[in-house]
Amino acid sequence: MKQQENIHPIFDKMQSREAKEQQLRQRGITVWFTGLSGSGKSTIAVALEHRLADQGIFSRILDGDNIRTGINRGLGFSEEDRRENIRRIAEVSKLFTETGIVTLCAFVSPTNDLREMAREIIGEDFVEIYVSTPLEECERRDVKGLYAKARRGEIKDFTGITSPFEAPDSPALAIDTTNLSVEEAVERVLEIIVPKIKHI
Ligand code: ADX
Repeated sequence: MKQQENIHPIFDKMQSREAKEQQLRQRGITVWFTGLSGSGKSTIAVALEHRLADQGIFSRILDGDNIRTGINRGLGFSEEDRRENIRRIAEVSKLFTETGIVTLCAFVSPTNDLREMAREIIGEDFVEIYVSTPLEECERRDVKGLYAKARRGEIKDFTGITSPFEAPDSPALAIDTTNLSVEEAVERVLEIIVPKIKHI
């Protein structure tokens, strides 16, 4: 592409990731929550953010409903739009992660393909957590009333109803929140991620 020729990145002059991480006294990682709408991804991320802060760990949440009102406003739920949604989020998450920030991403990200793309963009600091709460439970909760709308045919391509969700093959952790408190779910996530963050 012609325009690319006129772009001169200054990555080599900027402060290194290591310097940022030393300053924050933590390692940056992306904690990627995948699961159906209403499975508990954002609820866990919010509680986790507080628990991390209590331990002096600096984090940031990126969440589907928020991001779609900002940089991803205007993107819908077709396969193509979800792909662009996840691509941009993964690039943003990479920037945060390379700044030493523990980045908590809560996105439906319904297919192996989409999550693989995110993993490839972010690299080895990608920790996949599957919030595996089954459809029946998500639909029973229907916190946002979206399942009812989808069943009435008022939302097209709704994940779990008229659009597929593929369970991840080998997540670092799977959590079914049907019979689990938010605190217990957060505890399980902490066990996995704190050793990855705190080795500085
Ligand atoms: S993703 O599939 O592209 O990863 P994302 O996590 O950004 O989805 O957004 C999902 C949120 O958007 C859901 O929690 C729900 O509140 C809302 N939403 C609106 N329409 C849909 C739809 N057709 N499918 C899934 N979620 C939808």
